[in-house]
Amino acid sequence: MIKKILKSVREYKKATLLTPFFVSIEVILEVLIPFLMTKMIDDGINQSNLNVIYLIGGILVVISILSLIAGWLSGKYAALASSGFAKNLRQDMYYKIQDYSFSNIESFSSSSLVTRLTTDVNNIQMTYQMITRIAIRAPMMLLFSLFMVFSIHRKLSLIFLVIIPILGFCLIYIANKAHPLFESVFHTYDILNNRVQENVRGIRVVKSYVQEETEIKKFDQISNKIYQTFLKAEKLVAWNTPIMRLCVYSSIILISWIGSTFVVGGSLTTGELTGVITYAAQILNSLMMLSMVYVMCIISIPSMERVVEVLEEKPTIVTPENPIKEVKDGSIQFENVNFSYSEKKKKYVLKDINLQIQSGEMIGIIGGIGSSKSSLVNLIPRLYDATTGSVKVGGKNVKNYDLNTLRDSVAVVLQKNVLFSGTIKENLRWGNKEATLEEMKKVCDIACCNEFISKFPDGYDTYIDQGGTNVSGGQKQRLCIARALLKKPKIIILDDSTSAVDTKTDAMIRKAFKEYIPEVTKIIIAQRIASVEDCDRVIVLNKGKVDAFDTPKKLLKTNKIYQEVYESQKKGEKKDEEK
Ligand SMILES: Nc1ncnc2c1ncn2[C@@H]1O[C@H](COP(=O)(O)OP(=O)(O)O)[C@@H](O)[C@H]1O
Ligand SMILES: [Mg+2]
Repeated sequence: MIKKILKSVREYKKATLLTPFFVSIEVILEVLIPFLMTKMIDDGINQSNLNVIYLIGGILVVISILSLIAGWLSGKYAALASSGFAKNLRQDMYYKIQDYSFSNIESFSSSSLVTRLTTDVNNIQMTYQMITRIAIRAPMMLLFSLFMVFSIHRKLSLIFLVIIPILGFCLIYIANKAHPLFESVFHTYDILNNRVQENVRGIRVVKSYVQEETEIKKFDQISNKIYQTFLKAEKLVAWNTPIMRLCVYSSIILISWIGSTFVVGGSLTTGELTGVITYAAQILNSLMMLSMVYVMCIISIPSMERVVEVLEEKPTIVTPENPIKEVKDGSIQFENVNFSYSEKKKKYVLKDINLQIQSGEMIGIIGGIGSSKSSLVNLIPRLYDATTGSVKVGGKNVKNYDLNTLRDSVAVVLQKNVLFSGTIKENLRWGNKEATLEEMKKVCDIACCNEFISKFPDGYDTYIDQGGTNVSGGQKQRLCIARALLKKPKIIILDDSTSAVDTKTDAMIRKAFKEYIPEVTKIIIAQRIASVEDCDRVIVLNKGKVDAFDTPKKLLKTNKIYQEVYESQKKGEKKDEEK
């Protein structure tokens, strides 16, 4: 796991290695300071030798400055290494996510992916910085200081044999207690992000149903949960400081007390005693830092696991080896297709589908909500793969095509469609980067967009807000159709894409389709029977099965479902006219 993550260090290896190098220099210099102080007290002050005092004082100043510089350099390189590493890691995850299929993304949920890219990577970054600095610094400091104390006075150093295990035990005990709490905080972050995303995306619905209060309550609950857990964890960790202080003070008292008897006995000088006390503080301090690193590592292990999951996820839909790079025509075949969304539960949402669609036909699809209309068409551009059986486009199995080739030839205007923030022009160019204004105008004519674009003061340069909130539902749908047409596809699929467009414009779009793009296969999913009446043939879907596939005229005579929908909608229309 760690190996996998460390792959993202790349060009920051040098900075990563320089950090411990400077840290080591810093530690060595810092350990020398109390030693020189000892010498200064014993040989200088106690002997009233000014020369020694000046000499050692001068050395001390130089050493302090050098250790400051080393500290600054190690800090600089640690920051550079860790933030560069995090940047790379985030990029690697992002590239990987671009290759995800719909089902890959569904298996994570998009808000969880966001937490992983932000909070989790931040954790790893912090841990990385800590490890490159403190994880080297603390043990080095501990060992050097212990060695110095040992060389000054062997018996006195025995005190640490008692204090270090006690303190170590307390610190590890606290860290282990706090760990599950931190872990649960990160899990709750996922839920929090989910809520925020859902709420913000659906803010209009929330407002129009006056659900702000309930939404706020729901949010407060989760927010509070995070607060409570964090508080609990922090309270535990807060014990570190008093325990630490207790140990420091008691060891200083112990050392002074026992040490002074040695001084009186003549086996220890006053200077050496001061030295030992300073080293004691350094030893205990390093222990404290070690425990912090330990906590940080423990916290970031779940984060690492979550990041590795993203990096190791196998995209379920990929381009095969030696792919076909050209789609011959817009013909479509379904051969014995069964399809289920989850591999584990073999509950088919599409059963036994067999269809033959000629290139250039205009095909309507009707069926109740949940009859799998969207699922059926999503198999054509390989947004999902059929579970059994095969789907063919232009006579070849869709699985044999280069994914880009296939998706350029099969344009889908999805049911849940989005525009991105940017001008109308920029949005249309998603369909084709090099499209000229002429070409844009032409597809906008077919999709009946020019009618409203020409009314905007800025025309094609009108800015669309994020999520397309400043255009109406019907306008958005028409822009999405235009964007799809700009790809010059061989097959265009409209998944309920004119539901917010009035009937007259709806009919005009279909007429333009027949007139301007006769060679393109057109598939139109609709709720309104009027939207499929002028299609060449219509598929009637019922509970994931093809109930009938025929011309609208024949269906009206022979198919019960079609007749029922027809009757109910015609009646509705008449009533509207009477009003
Ligand atoms: N992403 C998905 N994951 C799991 N089940 C899904 C998914 N999308 C749709 N379904 C299920 O598949 C069935 C058909 O849905 P869908 O194709 O969207 O129907 P329609 O477009 O006709 O309303 C429904 O039972 C629905 O719950
Ligand atoms: Mg649908």
